[in-house]
Formats: sequence, structure tokens, C-alpha cells
Amino acid sequence: MMYKRIFLVLFLVSGWCNAQEPKLEETLIDRVSEQYEYLYHYSIKFLDTDKPMPRTLVEGKLHAVSIYDWTSGFYPGSMWNLYGLTNNTEWKNRANYYTKLLEPLQFYTETHDLGFMIGDSYGNALKYMDNQDYEMVIVQAAKSLSSRFKPKAGILQSWNSNDKWQCPVIIDNMMNLEMLFEATRISGDSTYYNIAVAHANTTMRNHFRDDYSSYHVLDYDINTDNILKRNTAQGYKDESAWARGQAWGLYGYVIMYRETKDAKYLAQANNIANFIINHKNLPVDKIPYWDYDAPVTNKTPRDASAAAITASALYELSTYVNNDLNALYVNRANNILQSLAAEPYLAEVGTNEGFLLKHSTGHLPINSEIDVPINYADYYFLEALLRQRNLNKDN
Ligand code: GLY
Repeated sequence: MMYKRIFLVLFLVSGWCNAQEPKLEETLIDRVSEQYEYLYHYSIKFLDTDKPMPRTLVEGKLHAVSIYDWTSGFYPGSMWNLYGLTNNTEWKNRANYYTKLLEPLQFYTETHDLGFMIGDSYGNALKYMDNQDYEMVIVQAAKSLSSRFKPKAGILQSWNSNDKWQCPVIIDNMMNLEMLFEATRISGDSTYYNIAVAHANTTMRNHFRDDYSSYHVLDYDINTDNILKRNTAQGYKDESAWARGQAWGLYGYVIMYRETKDAKYLAQANNIANFIINHKNLPVDKIPYWDYDAPVTNKTPRDASAAAITASALYELSTYVNNDLNALYVNRANNILQSLAAEPYLAEVGTNEGFLLKHSTGHLPINSEIDVPINYADYYFLEALLRQRNLNKDN
């Protein structure tokens, strides 16, 4: 009898505590949602222009870009992630509205980034609704992206040829493959699946060094499949490990394993994760400098976006591995989110023009977007929060 009474008291006290103090996770979700209200209200000013999509800050002011910018899918994608986190239909309506602005992109063949642009907008929409029109946009976008496939080299061309490169392919391109798998699922046409597999295999063969770090840009001879050059564009030097590139590679091979269940992709993802997690230049807060090989001084900029992408990828990868690796990946992803969700990374509500995260680095060698908020950092931060919450629920 006495035990029952003690139990009841403990139960009531714990219930009271829960009712009085929202869990940290809920507080954070409220906070990011409130902050994104600011971004939404700043961004609607740009809706009637040819640059409706918020991307970053320039001199402290919101800088918006056209739907043809490679980052145009991240804003609607972030709103889909917010809808997933909050279940608030306001975010769903806004996400839908901004997603539809991207409809013309399905026919755009001048970029390899369609997987980012259409996948993060239309692809996320389909997680929350059935919509055949949206499915058709994804299939058409996959068709447009496939026009960049070079069969002899077995690779999707990234940027168009220029004075320096004949057929440049960047590690980031691994992120465009998810949409191809989705298109095969929708259409039943395995062409897209096969292109994704060919691209991932060629990249795995050529883009990585012995320590599983990756080059940024490879130049292919499309007639012989020879590699003409191994370079960087956004990194510190050709032989360095540009931080966001490592994150794209990790995320890309996690997708490959999810979609094919081929063990070689899981091994590749584990090896890339190992490179990132154990890197000697990784700061204590686990937010990398913009390049793992950049000289470190107290002015070397970080890249919060690389950290957010890594965290999101690690949460998914943790679900495919055994207990020890699972704990390692979840702990590391949690550490990253803990850092990002605090000073100096998470902006105070109402500041930063509504962007969530500070301290990302876009393209340092051309002096562009250094130590700023960027829409893709926010997108992957929200996606990582969503994945963390779903994993906690499952557990
Ligand atoms: N895909 C370009 C970048 O990561 O900056």
C-alpha cells in the first residue's frame, strides 16, 4: 500500500514537471518556428520580383535569388521540414506555395543541381501529400537531369564545359541522385535508377583518396572516360578536403545505401564518416572549419552548413549499422546539433533577418558568403532535428 502511495506521488510530481517545463526539444522547435516567421515576413517582400527565394545575408540584409539559383529548393524545403516538426498547416500552405514557384525548373537542363532544387521542394512535399502533378514534376526533372549523363564516362556532368574543364563533376553531385531514385519509383522507368548507380560507382572509383576524403572537382574526358584533372573550386587547394564536400559525399553514399541496399555503399559511407569524425582539425564543438586542411588561426571561418549536413546524414546512417557504430553516429550528430542550437551559431529570435544559423561559408576562394547565414545550413539543421526527433520517438 505504502509503495503504491510513493509511486503515485512520484508519478504526479513527474507529470507536474512535464506540464510545467516543456522538453528542450519542444522549446527548440518553438524557437526555430518563431524565428522562421521573421524570415517568412521578410521574404514575402521579394515575392513579386524575379528573385523570390531567400538565400543569405549581404551586408546584413536579406539577399534573395531567382528560382534558377542552385539553392532555390531549400526555402520551401525548410518550410516542409518545419511542417514535419510542428504539424502547423500554416507551414504546409507556405511550403506548397513556394514549391509551386519552382515548377518551370522541371525542364531546365543547364544545371546538375535539379536534385537539390526539385528534390528538396517537390520531393519533400510528397512525404506529406499525394499529388500526381508533383510526381510528374519529379519525373520530368529526372529526365532533364539525365540529359547530362555521359554514358562512356558513366557520369552526370556537373557544370557546363568552360576554359578550364571539359566535363567537370563535383562531389556535390552525389546529392542529386535521390531524385533519380524517386523518379524510377514513380514512373517504373529504371533508366533513372541506373544512371544514379553508374554515377555513384564512377564517383566512388575516382573522386576519393586513400583516407576517404574527396576531391571537389574532377574533369573527365567524355570520350575515353580518362580523368583529365583533379582540382578544387571551393576548397583550400586541390589536395585538400573542403568541409562541405566531405559532408555531401557522406550524405550521398547514405542515400545510395538506402536506395540500393548494396553493402559497398554502406562501407563507403562508414569510411567517409570515419574521416570526418576523427579529423585532427575538427574543433571541440564539432563544427568544422571551412576546409579540413585550411591553416587554422583564430580568424579561420567555420562552416555550420557542413556540420548540419553531416549531422543529418549521421542520423540516417546510424539506422543501418550495429550498436557500437550506431551510438557513435547518434552521439556525434547530437553533439553537432547541441552546438548549432546554441551560441554562437543559433541566432537570437528576431535577428539575422530570420535565418536560423550563423557562421556558414559558401565560397571562400572567391571571397563570397564567408561566415554568413545560408539557406541550406538552415534546411539541413531542420532536417537533422526532424530525424533526431523521429529516432527518439522510435526508441
Ligand atoms: N553545391 C555548391 C555548394 O555546396 O556550395
